[in-house]
Amino acid sequence: AAVEKGNYRHFMQKEIFEQPTVVAQTLGSYLRQSDNSVALPQFDFDISAIKRVTIVACGTSYYAGMVAKYWFEQFARVPVDIDFASEFRYREPVLEDGGLALFISQSGETADTLAALRHCKAMGQTIGVVVNVPTSSMAREADLLLPTHAGPEIGVASTKAFTCQLAVLAALAAHMAVKKGLMTRAEEQEVVGHLLEAPAALNAALDHDDDIASMAHLIAPARDVLYLGRGPDYPLAMEGALKLKEISYIHAEGYASGEMKHGPIALIDEAVPVIVLAPSGPLFEKTVSNMEEVRARGGKIVLISDAEGLEEAGEGCLATIEMPRVHPLIAPLVYAIPVQLLAYHVACVKGTDVDQPRNLAKSVTVE
Ligand code: G6P
Repeated sequence: AAVEKGNYRHFMQKEIFEQPTVVAQTLGSYLRQSDNSVALPQFDFDISAIKRVTIVACGTSYYAGMVAKYWFEQFARVPVDIDFASEFRYREPVLEDGGLALFISQSGETADTLAALRHCKAMGQTIGVVVNVPTSSMAREADLLLPTHAGPEIGVASTKAFTCQLAVLAALAAHMAVKKGLMTRAEEQEVVGHLLEAPAALNAALDHDDDIASMAHLIAPARDVLYLGRGPDYPLAMEGALKLKEISYIHAEGYASGEMKHGPIALIDEAVPVIVLAPSGPLFEKTVSNMEEVRARGGKIVLISDAEGLEEAGEGCLATIEMPRVHPLIAPLVYAIPVQLLAYHVACVKGTDVDQPRNLAKSVTVE
């Protein structure tokens, strides 16, 4: 049956709001709630023997991979290499035995990613695929098939597939850590417990839809927008910038907060809004001091955070968006919501074709 928009104005809007449900569905197929453990689909290689993970993807799926790099390294202590598929394939990558090549794709048909997959297969890598279309070309070539259960995604700019990819990747990283003996049973239960909190936290983030809609007109006139984040939320800054570019046609850059002083700070003035993703946690203070550097130069800041005393931290900001307080592990899923909604509402203010942005395709099947 054809997928309908229902009460929503756009498919993208509908897909943003489906995230609590589809992330819960996806987690439901990777986590055993009876004992809070991770359970992957069947595969027949020894995951504890994986010596290196090579992640390859394009677009939004690539940013999910960047978040996963932090998780694989932190939990499973396995070195991770990540690249855009279009770069990877032609740079003569070094692929040693015992490597897992992990491909992330909503469609499972992106030509660059598929070509990279076939190259890795020919080079003897074990092939893992995180994919939303279970009948796709990539799904068929996987040794380890990890489906996301986001359901059909119609909006060209990916939203729900992204958060479902993150859910699967977190489960995979935890599973690998357990198998390598680096995560105790108690730690696994804790991680699973945090992941299971994600759907409710996504719902709480969605409650800010109205606030974000009402501030969108402040961002819509900008010619350039900067997004800042640190650690696993740095890829979210890039994903936020990508979403804004894709559907509102505003130039945007995602930057690692600490790297701003090495260049982008030269751009800061009253005309360049800066979206700061600042989940509480070990890196919060550092991000706030980067934010001060922006403010001192007249920058207009939108602070997205769950920190205590947000009012105070956000003094002098253009706006603050309060996120639910969550464990840093699930912050990348939760912070996806405000950056998606911001791009969506800015595009609505600008009157662009949200579901079919100019020059873009849902699935790019040419290299
Ligand atoms: C296109 C889409 C993006 C998507 C990217 C990768 O550029 O417009 O939304 O992230 O392809 O697609 P894939 O299906 O491989 O995730």
